[in-house]
Amino acid sequence: MSTSGRCPVVHFDHHSQEHADDTVGAYRRLRETHPVAWSELYGGFWVLSDYESVFEAARDDDVFSSQRLDQYGGPGLSVVIPKTPMHKHIPIELDPPEFRSYRKVVNPIASPAAVAKVEDMIVKWTTWFVDELIESGEADLAQVIGVPAICTIDWLGLPVEDWQVYARSHQATLAEPTDSPVYRRAVEVDLPYCSEQMRQTIAARAAEPRDDVISYLVQQQVDDRPITQEEVFSIVELLVSGGVGTTASLVSQALVWLHEHPDVRRELIDDPSLLDRAIEEFLRYFSPTQALARTVLQETEFHGCPMHVGDRALLAWSSANRDPAQFTDPDEVDIHRWPNRHLAFGVGVHRCAGSHFGKRMAKEMLAQVLERMPDYAVDLSGLKRYPRQGVNKGWQRIPATFTPGERRLPPGAVPPGVSAANARS
Ligand code: HEM
Repeated sequence: MSTSGRCPVVHFDHHSQEHADDTVGAYRRLRETHPVAWSELYGGFWVLSDYESVFEAARDDDVFSSQRLDQYGGPGLSVVIPKTPMHKHIPIELDPPEFRSYRKVVNPIASPAAVAKVEDMIVKWTTWFVDELIESGEADLAQVIGVPAICTIDWLGLPVEDWQVYARSHQATLAEPTDSPVYRRAVEVDLPYCSEQMRQTIAARAAEPRDDVISYLVQQQVDDRPITQEEVFSIVELLVSGGVGTTASLVSQALVWLHEHPDVRRELIDDPSLLDRAIEEFLRYFSPTQALARTVLQETEFHGCPMHVGDRALLAWSSANRDPAQFTDPDEVDIHRWPNRHLAFGVGVHRCAGSHFGKRMAKEMLAQVLERMPDYAVDLSGLKRYPRQGVNKGWQRIPATFTPGERRLPPGAVPPGVSAANARS
């Protein structure tokens, strides 16, 4: 793609080591100088980094499309740059009006009332993960981070003993170098395995429904006709990829930060009712999903920049969340910050469908770690982050020590064959 007419041109690579070393600084420099700019990498793309432009683009589906348009940038998941080899995801890769028919199907399973119904399940899996670590006095806290993966798998109705394969493969495609063996294993072995298992489960639930999300989905109507199993597959794969990595990223970053800020940790231990606002602030500050993409569908001048049909645009939620024009002291964590109109869940019609589920899991994980391992100390020299930080930011390994505690769940509370061992290391 030629850069002709596209300006200002900047050097920006959200997948580079340089970017991973200082994501906040890289976005700050861009936001302060060129909040809408063109990078020539990955076939060329716009990067939007201030709150105003990200907010505006995310709410303008006529110009900034989420659709998979193979003529622009080849096949693959369209909401990332470069595109990732995954099946089409519904509803995140659709535009209104088609989008609305599917989002209507997804909303009821992720509403606050629906999340309240699965609270016991979230508490059980969190308790079990902490149980698995608590007696030893030392652990990789990243293991607790399996909680969102296993909760999502259980919620959907997929076999819980396979949760690691789902977690590992979806994380790898977004965070591992594309030439690494881990990435290749994910794409060549794990994702096909998960796809086959999802398809089989969807067919089984269509024949014999149970009390799970897949059973609900297969019975839905779209525009007055029964939803197809392939459409259900697209939704389920999106729920897996939305559910497993993001909440883990949020909690992993919060745990490390709380180790470094013992005064705030003490405040949250003394008053867990502060957790709700604290989680909103962690969402803003850490922005687990750093940035997602759109495709320009109309010739337009956007914030002084000439955009052309087919141009790709990266919407940097993380950078918008640090914009001083929107947030006072944006680089400070203030767990009492309110209102907090962060864009960590996006904005507009595609705003995260799983936000209530994600926040409830994050709250349980943080609450249990703070209650049961209140003196945990992280060995900062042993931290390992996700290799790429361009889409999902977070820690892969968090070595920690703490005063040992007692298990809470009775033996047999979890089916045999389910292991809590960390899938990503
Ligand atoms: C901390 C946790 C989470 C973060 C930071 C997050 C972030 C996001 C963001 C930024 C979007 C907007 C996408 C766009 O505009 O292109 C989104 C959409 C979505 N998320 Fe989440 N998410 C989280 C948790 C979850 C969970 C737990 C689930 C489900 C199990 C989920 C499912 C979805 C779905 C289905 C969409 C697509 C919505 C649509 O297109 O209408 N997310 N998420």
